[in-house]
Amino acid sequence: MHQAPTSTQAMLFGTAVRPDQLVHEGPLLSAIRHCDILVPEYHGHWSAVEWRRGDPWFGNYDEIAQFAANHGQSVRGHSLIWEQMTPDWARREMQVKQDWRLVERHFANLLHRYRGRIDEWIVVNEMIDTENGDGFMRRTSFQRAFGNDYVAHALRTARKHDPDARLMINEYGLCADNPVDEARRVALLRHVEQLKKADVPLDMVGIQGHLELAKGAVPQARLSRFFQDLADMNVKLALTEVDVLEDDLSLSLRERDAKVADAVASLLDVAKQQPAMTSVTTWGLSDRHSWLQQRSESTQNAVERSPINEAQINRGLPFDSAMRTKQMMHTLAYDLSNSRISSLRTL
Ligand code: G3I
Repeated sequence: MHQAPTSTQAMLFGTAVRPDQLVHEGPLLSAIRHCDILVPEYHGHWSAVEWRRGDPWFGNYDEIAQFAANHGQSVRGHSLIWEQMTPDWARREMQVKQDWRLVERHFANLLHRYRGRIDEWIVVNEMIDTENGDGFMRRTSFQRAFGNDYVAHALRTARKHDPDARLMINEYGLCADNPVDEARRVALLRHVEQLKKADVPLDMVGIQGHLELAKGAVPQARLSRFFQDLADMNVKLALTEVDVLEDDLSLSLRERDAKVADAVASLLDVAKQQPAMTSVTTWGLSDRHSWLQQRSESTQNAVERSPINEAQINRGLPFDSAMRTKQMMHTLAYDLSNSRISSLRTL
């Protein structure tokens, strides 16, 4: 039975957005306005802002920040450091000379520009590697250039350039009941413990929450202890990229949407019992825009056809490709009763 939200729980709701989704009036824009937090899905990364060295362009980021300001919404900066979205010129430069001023200049560019408008930042995204890492630290351009202490250095640099923002690290692969996710949970706890013991400014930990039905049920008791262990280290928590990768598209839409909603409800049942959990962010609102369609050739082909056959694409977000409400949306509205999304009834 899906437990009712605890009275102490006031989790906010957010979603990932792209600037082109903020332009045309319609159900998607209306739903975006019902979010408390907006996160740039792609346009906030270093390589999306400064493709060429010394020539940063903030147009897309500015659009998202301005839209949020116009609608009284918060923005989560995503992300100051993420290996996949580090410009090639920066990777090469870090390889040749290990000069932190290169990284600090990038931080200052963004933190100064959006100070007072972006109040929480993912400083380092996806730092863990429990299989090929160096002490469970992923071997990135930053780790190779500056050692495992680059994470602490990045957090301190961010605090220096925006003393008021909440500073986060953000991780995937934490929500399944298997040895890989368990190793990642243990590694994250170890990293957070080391950072807090060294008095490094870390305010929040993002748990991405990309659920995969093929990996089985959410291990609720284990996640509850994991969330509490993090909270006991004096950090706030956030579910930052929630969506669901389905495992069987042959079922009826009704059955499929129920499975997706049940998986999300199972995760939210744990989240809403944890007072340190501040928000739930889905990684988009409509299946039409979900990165998950790229996870298989068939769903990628299906989402590029017109009209889209709903049965052939992944249905892991609150609304379908035509912005029809799905059961996952009702689950979110029920559990996030203090958020704007709970007032979203019709589009
Ligand atoms: O916008 C450009 C377009 O102008 C250009 O023509 C086209 C050609 O490649 O690329 C478009 O950009 C794409 C962008 O998504 C559009 O939003 C990029 O190629 C593509 O790489 C980018 O993928 C994003 C990916 O991160 C890499 O940044 C996905 O949308 C986004 O959902 C995904 O999100 C990540 C989180 O940041 C971190 N956690 C995992 C999550 C899923 O991979």
